[in-house]
Amino acid sequence: MPFYHKLGKIPHKRHTVFRKPDGSLYYEQLFGTIGFDGMSSNLYHEHRPTQVKEIKGSYDVTPKVAVENNLKSYRFRGFQVTPHPDYLESRKTVLTNSDCDIILASPQQSTDDYFYKNADSDELIFIHKGTGKLRTHLGNLDFKYGDYLLIPRGTIYKLDFDEEDNRLFIVESRRPIYTPKKYRNWFGQLLEHSPFCERDLRQPNELETNDERGDFLIKIKKQGKIFDMVYATHPFDVVGYDGYNYPYAFSIHDFEPITGRIHQPPPVHQTFETDAFVVCSFCPRKYDYHPDAIPAPYSHSNIDSDEVLYYVDGDFMSRNDIEAGHISLHPAGIPHGPHPGAVERSIGQVETEELAVMVDTFKPLMLTEDAMEIADESYHKSWLEEEDRE
Ligand SMILES: [Fe+2]
Repeated sequence: MPFYHKLGKIPHKRHTVFRKPDGSLYYEQLFGTIGFDGMSSNLYHEHRPTQVKEIKGSYDVTPKVAVENNLKSYRFRGFQVTPHPDYLESRKTVLTNSDCDIILASPQQSTDDYFYKNADSDELIFIHKGTGKLRTHLGNLDFKYGDYLLIPRGTIYKLDFDEEDNRLFIVESRRPIYTPKKYRNWFGQLLEHSPFCERDLRQPNELETNDERGDFLIKIKKQGKIFDMVYATHPFDVVGYDGYNYPYAFSIHDFEPITGRIHQPPPVHQTFETDAFVVCSFCPRKYDYHPDAIPAPYSHSNIDSDEVLYYVDGDFMSRNDIEAGHISLHPAGIPHGPHPGAVERSIGQVETEELAVMVDTFKPLMLTEDAMEIADESYHKSWLEEEDRE
């Protein structure tokens, strides 16, 4: 997170005596990334956060790759992913490489029986359907339709849902996810030309502090496995913390689109970055205002990045036959562009209501068995003129 946050009670000076009302000590933990060089927060616990009681075992959750080398454009019908009562069971990785996993999930119930922690990856959860509360050991965040939840690696969390009908689009990233460097000054502050600013980023404002001993199951994801670790103290026992490393929320509806007289390229939609992929938000906006502008994009070649578009809502002008919850995959190496008729249709239009999330990865993505179950195998021919179709 690019700016300082303080929640709960902390001592005046770090690494000094900090006592409970009964005279005993609170226990400090530095929660940091990239060794001691990255973002970090200083936490104060009721109990030492190291009290492992039992390691019950582990199970493999490595995505099963169906297509390793891909040069074919695909459409996936995301809403065909089967809902599941359990949050972790509901998560289906559809696209994967060594840097990231792209996941669809439709959990029906809150995570009641366990806590979850991803030890390898930052998680970016986009809420397509559903409302509720992200509960973490660093505080809670309410969420609703259109929210991105950025959960740094190592954050212990639960998701509470208000209803059963939930749809999530998740990116797990082995590299830290940041706001784009091009929008930050040398201190990290978001600049005037950024499509969003600190005021739009929601920080945790409610801290759950449980002073409890017992058996507390944390499911910890590491290197493609989930380890069931039982701790002797409640994982949400922080009385206060400060620093830069904590989960936050950003609504896609707070993204202020950058527009121009002629077509603006995808980087103006950039919302997050890593050194392995970028995330862009395509939001309702005015179209280009040059009198002869063509609002539809030109065909373009992703020579060296795979392009994943997750369609959220509105009308997807450059595509025919695309619905909410669909994903298109346009792989590196071949050009893609508007469908037949879309360029002509776009001329003279003044605005779009489209809402979509794009993930552009710099390494090729592999397709999983779960992806093939919801794949449209004929999508790659969707650019043909009518007379050339079989
Ligand atoms: Fe594209």
